[in-house]
Amino acid sequence: MYTRRQITTQERLQQQEYCERVKSLIAHRPHYALVDTYGCQQNESDSEILRGWLVQCGYELTTDEDKADLIAVNTCAVREHAEKRVLGNVGALAHKKAKNPDLLVCVGGCMTQQPTMREKIQKSYRVVDLVFGPHELWQFPELLLKTLERRGRRGNKSRLIAGEPSDGVVAEGLPRQRDGAVKAWLSIMNGCDNFCSYCIVPYVRGRERSRHLADILAEARELIAAGYKDITLLGQNVNSYGKGLDEPVDFPDLLREIDKIPGDYVLRFMTSHPRDATDKLFRVMAASEHCAHHIHLPLQSGSDRILKEMNRHYDRAKYLEKVASARRYMPDLVLTTDIIVGFPGEREEDFRDTLSLVEEVRYDAMFTFIYSPRTGTPAAAMPDPVTRAEKQVWFDQLLDLSNRISGEKHAAYVGKTVRVLIDGETGQTPYNLSSRTKGGRLVHLAGDPALVGKFLDVKITDSTTWALYGTLA
Ligand code: 5AD
Ligand code: SF4
Repeated sequence: MYTRRQITTQERLQQQEYCERVKSLIAHRPHYALVDTYGCQQNESDSEILRGWLVQCGYELTTDEDKADLIAVNTCAVREHAEKRVLGNVGALAHKKAKNPDLLVCVGGCMTQQPTMREKIQKSYRVVDLVFGPHELWQFPELLLKTLERRGRRGNKSRLIAGEPSDGVVAEGLPRQRDGAVKAWLSIMNGCDNFCSYCIVPYVRGRERSRHLADILAEARELIAAGYKDITLLGQNVNSYGKGLDEPVDFPDLLREIDKIPGDYVLRFMTSHPRDATDKLFRVMAASEHCAHHIHLPLQSGSDRILKEMNRHYDRAKYLEKVASARRYMPDLVLTTDIIVGFPGEREEDFRDTLSLVEEVRYDAMFTFIYSPRTGTPAAAMPDPVTRAEKQVWFDQLLDLSNRISGEKHAAYVGKTVRVLIDGETGQTPYNLSSRTKGGRLVHLAGDPALVGKFLDVKITDSTTWALYGTLA
């Protein structure tokens, strides 16, 4: 039975004390920490908390592995490809540790929540000193202190393998080192209850739990007061925000409340399950002052048969209805999606259904993946006769189609003037600045770096499959 556990202020303050103890243990010289992040935006957001704790513990942050006294790897389990990269990179740290025996290697994130993977790390990756799960982020200082105190003990006793999968923790007031000064993540919930048959997330991130409305609003106000201009609300399925809270509130209500905060900023969100995307949501988005007219609405497949096998709770017709409705409310809507190619049992005709749906909807951008079996999910036990090479052919076809549509959509912008938020420097000439339209389209332009953080009008002069190019209007 799932229980929600809200971390108390006292528990959090206790962690602050652990920070002080770590600080005194490493006070004899400067210590440097590096956080390496894999996977989704939620992980990027978690890594900001990890960096926040490390700074409170007295570490200076670095991006130089050779300089680091502590390397924390925040892992992703959603596809095998990410896991292989993590294992390769963690394995390679053995060389660094041979040179610097004091190097501390910490592995956190979703991979640590899979029993077979935990075992593998424990047995075969002896370079790892600390394993911890996503739900233990709030107590990282305590785990780090224990790990430092164990150092020097023999063999296994020197390591700390925490991160037993557990119930849903909600923690407020954790420190955070944000990555930029313009864009900010705002996590509104954690976990997922959907159990799509291919997906590992509900097993590794636990049941869905929402933060209280007041806590989210307070954080949003802080971000806006601090000058952040582009705020992305994060959750595995933001559309079910509010489920399980005492206060009667849903995601559109939350959007409306944040939107009332005055200021010059854009409000975005990720990710929306199509089943739970309602007319109320579209209406609130359309009427809001700050909401980007962008929805990331993962389709996964255009075949009714496969959608059923995926446990997605919508069919092609329902999905198309939602898209039509969203576009009625917001004719300028930017629509993006995720698609999985080669789900077990997918046939040529199913794949054709996906292609035809993509042709019909004409997404602005698509994230496409070849199905990756995840141990413990229902799909991993389904017969999967199509070869990897055949799936690759499908994948390439879908990518070609996606590129063609994005290219055509981008080309239609040439000659138009759009309002953008300048969000950073590209490090390239002549287009040294990057920016986004309210709908989230990438626009490169040339200009003074002092413009970062400003909303400006840009005339689009050129386009490619991936981006628009322009000059200040
Ligand atoms: N194989 C391939 N892609 C997957 N995704 C989730 N699980 C898998 C898997 N087992 C994709 C989905 C999801 C995105 C974040 O990752 O498309 O929307
Ligand atoms: Fe995975 Fe489905 Fe939950 Fe998304 S909604 S995290 S695909 S189970």
